[in-house]
Amino acid sequence: MLELNYRNADAVVIGEENGLNIEEEFNNYKDTITHIIADLNKRKDKPGQWLQWMNLGYSEETVWYVKEFASMVEGRFDNILVLGIGGSALGGLAVTEALLKPYWNLLTKEERNNFPRIFFLDNIDPDSINGLLSILDLKKTLVNVITKSGSTAETMAQYMVLKDLLEKELGDDYRKNIVVTTDKNVGILKQLADQEGYKTFIIPDDVGGRFSVFSAVGLLPMALVGLDIDEITNGIKDMDLALKNIDIHQNIAAQNALIHYLMDTKKGKKLSVMMPYSSRLKYVSDWYVQLWAESLGKEYDRNGNKVNVGPTPIKSVGATDQHSQIQLYNEGPNDKLINFIRVKEFDTVLEIPKIFEYTGIGYLGGKTINDLINAEADATKVTLSDHSRPTVTITLPKINGYYMGQLLYMLEVQTAIAGELYNIDTFNQPGVEQAKNYTYALMGRSGYEDSAKQLQEKMATV
Ligand code: PA5
Repeated sequence: MLELNYRNADAVVIGEENGLNIEEEFNNYKDTITHIIADLNKRKDKPGQWLQWMNLGYSEETVWYVKEFASMVEGRFDNILVLGIGGSALGGLAVTEALLKPYWNLLTKEERNNFPRIFFLDNIDPDSINGLLSILDLKKTLVNVITKSGSTAETMAQYMVLKDLLEKELGDDYRKNIVVTTDKNVGILKQLADQEGYKTFIIPDDVGGRFSVFSAVGLLPMALVGLDIDEITNGIKDMDLALKNIDIHQNIAAQNALIHYLMDTKKGKKLSVMMPYSSRLKYVSDWYVQLWAESLGKEYDRNGNKVNVGPTPIKSVGATDQHSQIQLYNEGPNDKLINFIRVKEFDTVLEIPKIFEYTGIGYLGGKTINDLINAEADATKVTLSDHSRPTVTITLPKINGYYMGQLLYMLEVQTAIAGELYNIDTFNQPGVEQAKNYTYALMGRSGYEDSAKQLQEKMATV
């Protein structure tokens, strides 16, 4: 199982001013946490609670359909092109980057065991889109259009560009190169998919974008490149079982949620840094940033009070960012809680040859790159603690599907518990919707004429 070590967030190690009396706080919040966990599990099957993501690990039907489709198209495509943004891209990106062989898209077909390359077009930079399209053979590309709302301008625009190109290249057969993942009712994409006859996967009700990684949103891209999704769902299920424990002393998601909440509200740690010591986990930071920011950054609490809460998440990767961010984290404002993710056993052991023995770098020879990254993580943690900066460490025994399932699911539950502690609606995103609506207005979508007029006036004054 994943482990959480919070010693370096404790007052005993980093002092009273910046550290928490963790054991005491666990006891203070014991009943609150018990209530939150029991309540989340009680509400999870009720419509309108947006907690269906807690059931995704058990959705055998989705897994079956995803696997069936993946095996049906196996060998037909050289590329998977995912069109989506935010929650419709980041989960798939985080898991495929972690689990596929490094530099997957540069490997030969044989090295990829005949599975396709995978690209996520999660932005609308015209130059990068054009650049990518110029290197893809569209005939051999399966386009997975993913949008929960079925209307997001970025994804719809990408889809329109791709549909047009595919049709020009493939004639009527272009439909076989498109697969859609969307809501069963909401939005325009579902209607289009029905009209066009695309293969369609449905995102279950009450699963928000940033909590959708284990629906077809994430599972389909994972299966298409040959990842073992049963291994992933086994990890989710085992973690879910562990996190059903209502005792905070036994529940790592509750522990980390409470530590983050108290660090923010009692100790002024308004920033939450996610720093895995593994390049393969670098997009876990991006995924976490979206999850944490959109879920916890809220203007109003549940009672309608204006609260403007939410710790700001920051992405980072070790050891790389030791050479860009750690100076600030050690000596700048003491306003951060740093989450390390450590990997106990890397897939490979890379030895550093015993050369240059009589020079200043001779000490590295005979050690491994593994020793070095671990030493750097330890050194950074201790330096931060010397400066009274709080850190917590999540340890993965290995990077594989089982532990990735555990990690992402644990962070989702942690976010849900943190939202309850802040007493906010974790699952809405009015701030995102507002910007989406302004975009529709600016781009002339019908029904948004009044907003467009107001916007033009506002823009003229700035
Ligand atoms: O978490 C969310 O709800 C958002 O960030 C969405 O994932 C993002 O805006 C994309 O939305 P959609 O999947 O509807 O295209």
